[in-house]
Amino acid sequence: MRHFLTLKDLTSDELQQLITRAIELKRMHKAGEIYQPLKNKVLAMIFDKSSTRTRVSFESAMVQFGGGSIFLSPNDTQLGRGEPVEDSARVISSMVDAVMIRTFDHNMVKKFAENSSVPVINALTDDYHPCQLLADMQTYQEHKGSIQGKTVTWVGDGNNMCHSYINAADRFGFKLSIATPKGYEPDANIVASAQTTITLFNDVDSAVKGSDLVVTDVWASMGQEEEQKKREVAFADFQVNHDVMALANEGALFMHCLPAHRGEEVSAELMDDTNSVVWNEAENRLHAQKALLEFLFTN
Ligand code: CP
Ligand code: NVA
Repeated sequence: MRHFLTLKDLTSDELQQLITRAIELKRMHKAGEIYQPLKNKVLAMIFDKSSTRTRVSFESAMVQFGGGSIFLSPNDTQLGRGEPVEDSARVISSMVDAVMIRTFDHNMVKKFAENSSVPVINALTDDYHPCQLLADMQTYQEHKGSIQGKTVTWVGDGNNMCHSYINAADRFGFKLSIATPKGYEPDANIVASAQTTITLFNDVDSAVKGSDLVVTDVWASMGQEEEQKKREVAFADFQVNHDVMALANEGALFMHCLPAHRGEEVSAELMDDTNSVVWNEAENRLHAQKALLEFLFTN
């Protein structure tokens, strides 16, 4: 049995196979082909944080694959009233075929997986967002071909998405430049564990030069709402806009996992620019996670 808590749970070859498969599943879906490899299978979805894309994509994926899903919020479950994670994991995993979790503490997901009899998927923690990276890697490949050997620039907070980009750089073989304000760098241990070239910057312009893909995310993530004002000041010079994209390589793509704050981390115009692939990126959550579900259920 396999879990998907970070990209490191899969090999480079397995991840590349998933991306290829996601592109094929997308083609099949668009062609109207009915493909139901998960008939009668159930995915439990534990959400301790809000979500639009993750919830809709996983629920749709399960229905389209012939199975079903159960949405579990802390307001409705005993987990939300303090039932231990270990006990909840034993019980829930005895009744379903896989579990998807979005929560705060990454250790909660690890603890759940250790006590689960079925595959567990990390659908975002404070530390990582690996499902988003599957969609991002699929999107890059669809538009530009292999990302291997390319240069990617992360602009903004050294957050969960940034950490998953560091893992992706390792697994997919691209160079990663990271531009953050001082004090908002990614976790030093995660940077140190990377086996590829990761370069840290405290200014956007130098980081974006020579880049093939520029990626950003909100300045205050879920759980950091009270820091919003302070972060608006700290990140004032870290907006991705046309001027920033002009420093990147010709034809460089722009991505954002969404939801976006137009006028903060990204300018309003850039969102719908020809080099922005944010809408494809969002849609690909469906196709990439279908490939992931198929992989985990059939492994
Ligand atoms: N990108 C992403 O995970 O979006 P949601 O928070 O809407 O799921
Ligand atoms: N970094 C953001 C990503 C949202 C999909 C957050 O954790 O809120």
